[in-house]
Amino acid sequence: MNFLQIDYIKENLHTRTVGKKLTYFERLDSTSARLKTLAADGATQGTVIIAEQQTAGHGRQGNAWYSPPGTGLYFSVLLRPQLPLLKLSGLTLALGHAAATAIETATGLAMRIKWPNDLYCNGRKCGGILTEIQSAGSDSAYAVAGIGLNVNNDFLPLELCESATSLLLETGASVFREGLLVELLTAIERDYLIFSGSGLDAFIEPLQARSHLAGKWVRIEGGDRKVQTGMATGFDNQGALLLINEKGETMRMTSGSVLEVKE
Ligand code: BTN
Repeated sequence: MNFLQIDYIKENLHTRTVGKKLTYFERLDSTSARLKTLAADGATQGTVIIAEQQTAGHGRQGNAWYSPPGTGLYFSVLLRPQLPLLKLSGLTLALGHAAATAIETATGLAMRIKWPNDLYCNGRKCGGILTEIQSAGSDSAYAVAGIGLNVNNDFLPLELCESATSLLLETGASVFREGLLVELLTAIERDYLIFSGSGLDAFIEPLQARSHLAGKWVRIEGGDRKVQTGMATGFDNQGALLLINEKGETMRMTSGSVLEVKE
């Protein structure tokens, strides 16, 4: 089994906060669950937990995150944004931009972002981001950003193989996970700083260029269970997905699950 060489990561990571404190576990229930406990105990911004394998990795809407050892990257980053909760809605997309650009640099693949939190490559999902925010009144106390990536998987379980992929399956070559992780943490620090200063504005154009949904007809069941159908056109600076419906009206989707539908 090819285990992550944490020394390589520590020696080659030149960030100011993200990953300055970095703890590696060979096996953990969930890096995000562990980091939330540390956050509640006062861990500092930028603390990172990485696991070679997760036994209870989870994603949005309670979905399990497939986390076998020796192949993927599963890690969580603690952020302590000094921003009102309302301004945090675009954080996952800013982190999606960070992850997509880091993967592009490390592999040369063209990455796409499927709103709100999926990383896509050649039409299939290869990663996901789960941002969990703990609020304190109208402010956020902390955000735990958990990222899972299928990297060197040469196969995926039957139930995933139609919709999911890995970087190895797309490039045909094995990816140096430690180098990719250094790129990811560096890009997360870069984009988090930009986001903290000026929100999502600077990301709209590069996100648009990487949007998996742009120009596609989608059906979204919102948090309120109301179903909306329309063509995805872009994002706004609050992180909402913009749709145009058949009547030509623009709609803002702030939450929900997206299904691509035939035109
Ligand atoms: C999604 O696609 O719904 C998001 C998946 C996020 C999975 C990562 S793996 C590392 C971290 N620990 C978890 O339990 N979940 C996130």
